[in-house]
Amino acid sequence: MKIKWIFFIALISISVAQTIISCNADKNESLPDKDWPIYGGNNAGNRYSDLSQVNISNVKDLKVVWSYDSNDSSAKDPNNDHAHEIQCQPIVVHGILYGTSSTLKLFALNAATGKQLWKFDPFKDIVPRYHANRGVMYWENGKDKRIISTAGSFIYAVNATDGKPITSFGVNGKVDLHEGLSINFDVSNSSITATSPGIIYKNTLIMGSSVPETGDAAPGYVRGFDVITGKLKWTFHTIPLPGEPGYDTWPADAYKKIGATNNWSGLSVDEKRGAVYFGTGSPAADFYGGIRAGTNLFSDCIISLDAETGKMNWYFQTIHHDLWDRDIPSPPNLITLKHDGKIIDAVEQSTKDGLVYVLDRDNGTSLFPIEEKAVPTQGLPGETPWSTQRYPVKPKPFDNQQFTDSDITNISPESHAFVQAIFDSTVHNNKFATPNLSGTVLSGYSGGAEWGGNAIDPDGILYQNANHAPWLLKMISREDQLKEIEKAKDANGLYIANCAVCHGADRKGNGKEIPALLNIKDRLKDEDIYHILLNGQNRMPSFQSMSNLQKFAIINFLLDRKPNQNKPVSEHSDKASAIAKKKDFPYEPAYLTKSWDKLTDQDGYPAIKPPWGTLNAIDLNTGDYLWRVPLGEFPELTKKGIPVTGTESYGGPLATAGGLVFIAATRDERMHAFDKKTGKIVWEYQLPAGGFATPITYMINSRQYIVIAAGGARGLKAGGSYIAFALPE
Ligand code: HEC
Repeated sequence: MKIKWIFFIALISISVAQTIISCNADKNESLPDKDWPIYGGNNAGNRYSDLSQVNISNVKDLKVVWSYDSNDSSAKDPNNDHAHEIQCQPIVVHGILYGTSSTLKLFALNAATGKQLWKFDPFKDIVPRYHANRGVMYWENGKDKRIISTAGSFIYAVNATDGKPITSFGVNGKVDLHEGLSINFDVSNSSITATSPGIIYKNTLIMGSSVPETGDAAPGYVRGFDVITGKLKWTFHTIPLPGEPGYDTWPADAYKKIGATNNWSGLSVDEKRGAVYFGTGSPAADFYGGIRAGTNLFSDCIISLDAETGKMNWYFQTIHHDLWDRDIPSPPNLITLKHDGKIIDAVEQSTKDGLVYVLDRDNGTSLFPIEEKAVPTQGLPGETPWSTQRYPVKPKPFDNQQFTDSDITNISPESHAFVQAIFDSTVHNNKFATPNLSGTVLSGYSGGAEWGGNAIDPDGILYQNANHAPWLLKMISREDQLKEIEKAKDANGLYIANCAVCHGADRKGNGKEIPALLNIKDRLKDEDIYHILLNGQNRMPSFQSMSNLQKFAIINFLLDRKPNQNKPVSEHSDKASAIAKKKDFPYEPAYLTKSWDKLTDQDGYPAIKPPWGTLNAIDLNTGDYLWRVPLGEFPELTKKGIPVTGTESYGGPLATAGGLVFIAATRDERMHAFDKKTGKIVWEYQLPAGGFATPITYMINSRQYIVIAAGGARGLKAGGSYIAFALPE
């Protein structure tokens, strides 16, 4: 009895104390500052903040308190699609916000005012190489404070205080990402970038990379560098060398020829265990594995390594012998769950094909049962599809696992008929249907889950935004492709045979992801186009099998030169000829990707029934869904009376202790706040341009800020600003 009373009084005094605390919060008395110091918010990748000044009851009062124009002139060019997306989720350390612009300039802002402190241009003295950049890293030791960021094929270390290079890092402040990769074949001229930030454990900077997905890919080894000197400390061979575990899952010489199998999507660290966790992508080349019979470890794996030494703790393969480009798309989430009455430290990984894996962090075993089932084994000539694949029993998939006629869009009879006609000539009834010449409908170039990652509450609720859009894949034999090129005698013919399928015969692009190629002479030089043709760029494939003469013919054509103005090959810049001297790569796949396009109706809407984009809340303790709602809207369809369809989303959510999930990412260019408990929209804001990035939150001088990069584009309007929201003072 007595004990109960003491307990009761204790409870009352706790709630009185809480009331006092929350009153204080209302009065805006001094609350501790709180940074967002790491990509993903913390080393566990949770995209969660315990800040609650902005909460369910006051979120409707959020106002823009500053906006920073990252001010890239090239970013303002509506035709220059690749140069204005900002995928960056910035970091905030000691009240300073560090982020990147669409042309990869690194900047520091006062995070309370948005005032610029400094800017660093990595391409000041070199030919720019634009690519996605999802964030940067911070490291400090006493007065030595560094921002580590990547651009082109380099890792840069910059003084966080003044934006000047730290010249003692690598060579004059930068480390070449090619470092240590040419051990089995020469990749010194192959394209390597890092689109997601690495992660720092003590003094070890752990880096993944982004490499081509074609025959000329460098191996995607994950590496540990000394964050002080830039020296390579360790290399984990994602394609094992002779004698290493996993070597026997490939043909004997595969490691001398095959690249990719890279971690492009970022990493997480468990400081207590000293372990790094990350996912890998498929091996080169996408969609054809003729010379790589076997399960191909460690492709498409979730992997745990000792962060200091790179020694493997365990791996879990999600796809055997990947023929579908099912790269692990985001950093894993580390979370502690209550499963079957036990407290378990877990690692969560969502996949492009809409699955959620929940694994024991110590040994990689799945908390929920996983079935291994037979799948189609009839592939292209020379192909050796693996006979089984994995299906987690729980949680249920958050994206379509197959497409049947009953999934075809119903938004109008015209749309239905348009898609049905395409559907009839394709294979579409199994997500493990093998690539073929006539067409396979697959989910997932862009997910399911994608690079924005997901958020997890401390209580184990996963907030997952998902894309629901089918893509159509067609393959072609190398022989036939060469013949097609041979047939095209003139530059226009070459263009039609190779480029028109995407950029259009009229060079107008598709008004969305695929840029127009009209008037590009104003912004692209010969060597820029040459480089793009050689290496590809984001979704643009590389054209390795095209001869230099053909490449130069197309370049002259695209730059609208009259025949007498054509630059002879010898006059092409030194840059281009230096690249042209690159060694041929040993791996030429017998089948190549002919086309890999989003399958849409005649108006460009996804070919399946809505929803086309959703936000999902999944309790990872039980594996059950709490709610699932459409994410995003096409206002023109809503006006016609079609229920809100959701749109594709690019960029992840942010969960807070204020009971909210913030996410932008949608094609309606809005920033949204959802009630974490119900999935109801409680606030929306029309951004000046699409927010294809992940928001962050932090507190300075007792004020909670929420920031999102609104870089725009993806076929919509250009942007370029970072926008901060807070409650009125
Ligand atoms: C499978 C579709 C596809 C094919 C085929 C394709 N491209 Fe592209 N291309 C793209 C996409 C998508 C982009 C935008 C890349 C980005 O986001 O960086 C692009 C970008 C470009 C750019 C840069 C444009 C700019 O505004 O900076 C050039 C130049 C280009 N392509 C030329 C070509 C040429 C020449 C061919 C044929 C030899 C070709 N492309 C074939 C999809 C394609």
